[in-house]
Amino acid sequence: MGSIIVEKSVLQGEVEISGAKNSALPILAAVLLTDEEIVLHKIPVLSDVETMIDILRTAGKNVVFERDTGTVKVSGPILHTHVPYELVRKMRASFNVLGPIAVMMGESSTPLPGGCAIGVRPVDFHIEGLKKLGFDVNYDHGEILARRGNKSEDVTVYLPFPSVGATEHLMSVAAVLPGTTVIENAAMEPEIGDLQSLLNEMGADISGAGTSRILIKGVKRLHGCEHTIIPDRIEAGTYVIGILATGGEGIVRNVRTDHLDALWAALEKAGAVVKKGENFVEIKSWNKWRGCDIDVLPYPGFPTDLQPQIIVYLSLAQGTSMVTENVFKTRFAHVGELVRMGANMKIKENTVIINGVEKLQGTTVMGTDLRATAALVIAGFAAEGETEVTQVEHIFRGYENVIEKFSKLGGKIRYVPGGVPEI
Ligand code: EPZ
Repeated sequence: MGSIIVEKSVLQGEVEISGAKNSALPILAAVLLTDEEIVLHKIPVLSDVETMIDILRTAGKNVVFERDTGTVKVSGPILHTHVPYELVRKMRASFNVLGPIAVMMGESSTPLPGGCAIGVRPVDFHIEGLKKLGFDVNYDHGEILARRGNKSEDVTVYLPFPSVGATEHLMSVAAVLPGTTVIENAAMEPEIGDLQSLLNEMGADISGAGTSRILIKGVKRLHGCEHTIIPDRIEAGTYVIGILATGGEGIVRNVRTDHLDALWAALEKAGAVVKKGENFVEIKSWNKWRGCDIDVLPYPGFPTDLQPQIIVYLSLAQGTSMVTENVFKTRFAHVGELVRMGANMKIKENTVIINGVEKLQGTTVMGTDLRATAALVIAGFAAEGETEVTQVEHIFRGYENVIEKFSKLGGKIRYVPGGVPEI
């Protein structure tokens, strides 16, 4: 795996946000629900998107990805119903193809996704939900086998936790199953709304996305359509925090500012200057910022995917902060690496207690997951001296043109491809 080397920099100027990874992935699973052509725009060039496209091709779909414009065209029938381990191993979101393939072909099989650095990542809500929708779901030597059965006319699926993936998986499958399906305690993230828009443009009849109750009235079949995905709110938040944590100022463009209210509230509590337009935000670090307490929660709460990044910002604040992680309770692998850079923080159960320090010191740190790696790069820009972030391929999973975008903001950054093969 390679490294990213960064030196102390003040990030400032303008940056343009790409299409949302966490919208592209469930939508690329949902295109399996029709053989007709689907044209998608603003799909970001990311390794996770490439993996999902490989999965679609493995299933037999024709996929053309025009990387220079971000347009993806998918068409043709599903020819194979098994998704291979080497693809599912790379990215758990690929599990969401299980239901669409089974509903179209009668059955499908995929390996049970593994855990990752941010937690165990179970899929029990997905499986229990599919069973309520009439599927037979069995385990066989690490594989999950799903067979379409008979769905009762009216079904309500209650999610024990507002799981993003389970909500997306079940609403996609229920779209073409007879009768009505209600998902109670559904996730409310903006990406759910984008998926609902795509499915309805394909001829589905779904309402309620963005609330905790989604109503799906099944239709016989779905058809082709053209769809532009929403901007990536987590990429946007990452650059906003990067600019502020390095004492800079700038404008982040092509961002749905209404998707990040919890971030704006936290930053204003900390003393940042935030001027929001409808699709851009202007931010400025105003002297030293203050510590503040943050509860990480499902949307519209503070997003877990910005938790590592805001921790970097608060590590340099005046005073004490407490950040409580209520989504992935063990998502703290980055904390130890930040302490190695001179941060003063400690973990108590699912809370990080941060005492702000004057400065961080550059050193060699290890990236563990997508967002932790982005946070360590930001810490490197803020720290004195030079920082090497190793195992850095994680960042290419979720940040399009990340080296170019940080460089354009004045970041001193370079990527050193690694010799050691990916583990
Ligand atoms: C999605 O993951 C995102 N990924 C994650 O972003 C994001 O962190 C997460 O939602 C929470 O917002 C994509 O959209 C591709 P969950 P997902 O199901 O769907 C538990 C990134 O960096 N759970 O909402 O896997 C689970 O363990 C990634 O872009 C079960 O117990 O997350 C967690 O504690 C990281 N059983 C909580 O629910 C299940 O069957 C929320 O997980 C499913 C989930």
